[in-house]
Amino acid sequence: MKIATRTCAHLLKDYPFHGQVQPMVDEQAIKAAQEKFGALLRKQLDRVEVLKNEGAPVDYSKLDKLIIGVCGGDGIGPYICASAQRVMEFLLADKLKAGKAEIRVIDGLTIERRVEVMKAIPDDTLAELKACHVILKGPTTTPKKGDPWPNIESANVAMRKELDLFANVRPVSVPELGIDWTFFRENTEGSYALGSDGVNVTDDLAMDFCVATTQGTDRILRAGFDFAKKTGKNYVSVITKGNIIKTTDGKFLSMAEEIAKEYPEVKWDDWFIDITTAKLIDPARRSAFKVFVLPNLYGDIITDEAAQIQGGVGTAGSANIGTKYAMFEAIHGSAPRMVTEGRAQYADPCSMIKAVAMMMDHIGEAEKAKKLNMALDICCQFEKKLVMTGRDTGATGNEFADYIMETMQRPDIEKVWQGYIDAAIAAAKN
Ligand code: IPM
Ligand code: MG
Repeated sequence: MKIATRTCAHLLKDYPFHGQVQPMVDEQAIKAAQEKFGALLRKQLDRVEVLKNEGAPVDYSKLDKLIIGVCGGDGIGPYICASAQRVMEFLLADKLKAGKAEIRVIDGLTIERRVEVMKAIPDDTLAELKACHVILKGPTTTPKKGDPWPNIESANVAMRKELDLFANVRPVSVPELGIDWTFFRENTEGSYALGSDGVNVTDDLAMDFCVATTQGTDRILRAGFDFAKKTGKNYVSVITKGNIIKTTDGKFLSMAEEIAKEYPEVKWDDWFIDITTAKLIDPARRSAFKVFVLPNLYGDIITDEAAQIQGGVGTAGSANIGTKYAMFEAIHGSAPRMVTEGRAQYADPCSMIKAVAMMMDHIGEAEKAKKLNMALDICCQFEKKLVMTGRDTGATGNEFADYIMETMQRPDIEKVWQGYIDAAIAAAKN
């Protein structure tokens, strides 16, 4: 015993903490992380102050002139966006001619330009975007670790934050399966708010953050409940993982409980994200769901699943709605491989065209939105006079856009659409 003590003292004699308890943690690393965390907190609390003073939403019907920005993006983006722009110009022909609407092409949102200035959105491009009311945006490349691009923040996520596009609205419908879902994904907070601001505290410890503010949670919940009430769908499912992510998801859930009391006509319930992913493919349960409200990351994941049930991510559009601005886009990525393989003109523009339909609804052109949605159903699901295969065995995006525009001009479009829907429902029953 004695000898051992002596040996131990001998071993420690040159150690700087000799005689003290040896520290197990790197205090300097903690201090550096605390400072970084402090800066993040300050930024988020500043944001809360801005949210507290948020104005009323823009009333598009009161504008003298609606300015629509169009950003092609990367990869197949400029191709499918150009096809969608043609459909948009067709629908808004009168307004454009009368000077009541203007389309501005904004071309600075490419990965090359973003890398050149090392910013998620170049300053001049951001200024151009902010001079518009609504934006049609093609997919942009989001660099991830290992890509040839530097690891800059996603242009998409940056635009949602910069323009404060807090509600990501994603409808999914499959009439023959009785599916009519609308997702209200919170779009500026959750795990995305500080997605590029995590901390490598030491070589061994990495930490990311998840954010929920009272103001941010309140407005997305209200957007979902308002929609459920306005449309008569009257059923909201709030999706969290509040049993595990107790603070932020817990806040989301407890605020839902309070806000729901203001909507007595709307039935609501809460589900955990894991079982929800299962229930979306459960034929016995899924058609009962109507409106979902959920934090950012869960919304990202589950809307891809939902879109797949509808026929794939290429079939779904996405609206990013804020108080001042709104942006409409496809829910899929920029598919750079299609460009390198020379197939970009065969990329399916339907997701972008669906985004145009959502824009029409948002700017108060409900009739135009309805007609475009019917044409999309007829062309993509039922009649299929042209098909997109992603290669030269099928139609080009522009040919498909022509097909959609021709279909919209059919005087019997509503009857034709209803006929297909009825037949599909009847077939599904047999
Ligand atoms: C989406 C996309 C984006 C997201 C990417 C491209 C940043 O997956 O719109 O769902 O993660 O939100
Ligand atoms: Mg996604």
